[in-house]
Amino acid sequence: MRLMYDLHALDKTLLIESDQKINKAVLNKLAQTSKKITSLKIADTVISNDIKKAFKDPSYAIIFSPESINRKISLIMKNLIMPKPIISELKIIKKTMPYTYRHILVTAILATKISLDKQLKGKYDPIKIARLGLVHDIGKSRIPPEILQKPTPLTKSEHEVLKTHALIGYILLHYYCGKKHVLYDCASYEHHERLDGSGYPRHAKKINKYSQVIAVVDVFDALIAIRPYRKTAFSLRAALDLLLENVAQKKLNKQIVHLLISFARITKPNLKELRISQVKRDKPPTKNVYGKIAKG
Ligand SMILES: [Fe+2]
Ligand SMILES: [Fe+2]
Repeated sequence: MRLMYDLHALDKTLLIESDQKINKAVLNKLAQTSKKITSLKIADTVISNDIKKAFKDPSYAIIFSPESINRKISLIMKNLIMPKPIISELKIIKKTMPYTYRHILVTAILATKISLDKQLKGKYDPIKIARLGLVHDIGKSRIPPEILQKPTPLTKSEHEVLKTHALIGYILLHYYCGKKHVLYDCASYEHHERLDGSGYPRHAKKINKYSQVIAVVDVFDALIAIRPYRKTAFSLRAALDLLLENVAQKKLNKQIVHLLISFARITKPNLKELRISQVKRDKPPTKNVYGKIAKG
């Protein structure tokens, strides 16, 4: 694997040179050069207040209910202790890419909500998943804003640049978290992988269980939120239909998609009682360019 340009950390250290071969040995070396890590509690940062606001996102009015679960999620997230450079990266994303910042917070909240669901019987550690949600797109900080905020479909070469954010995040987290990088980096690296091997960056079919949750939540939010390239979002139903299509194609985790469907209903049926119509119930918005590549 290689990047197309030099990658620097926030402290200006050159981490990877353009076209340098990146492998496990290079990444391990980076983790060893990591300086002493100072950490911060989310509650003591501006992110804490932004999390509070993210719960009020109108697209999530039904999903982020009941309030009692929101309080639990909020407490978990505010008590997270994260390396200082990660907090700094998130603050930069907040300033330069507000769409991405909002997406990161909502992803972390929803993934944490999934982990708290009793039907999953503690399969996912809420603290770990909240942390993974917050860092999953950290590599986007190094993608040129003209690509991230382009209002029209990306060209193939622009899409190739965008795709590097998964690897960039993985590299940054090795450097920022040192030996503890494994607590942070799986979802950053794998959230665009798909169970049928059609994802990136490695076309992996064996995907960490936490990354699978982040992958579902990531696609879902990409659909139901307004994006620079799409002024009208998918309706909840149309987004869930697309996720079900992805489940049928063996790309996304079925249990997690079904749980999302249950969250999106006022009655919150349990997974055994969940009935899903096989008929498509809504259409994507017109002029939808999600996943489309422009010629050139
Ligand atoms: Fe991503
Ligand atoms: Fe994402």
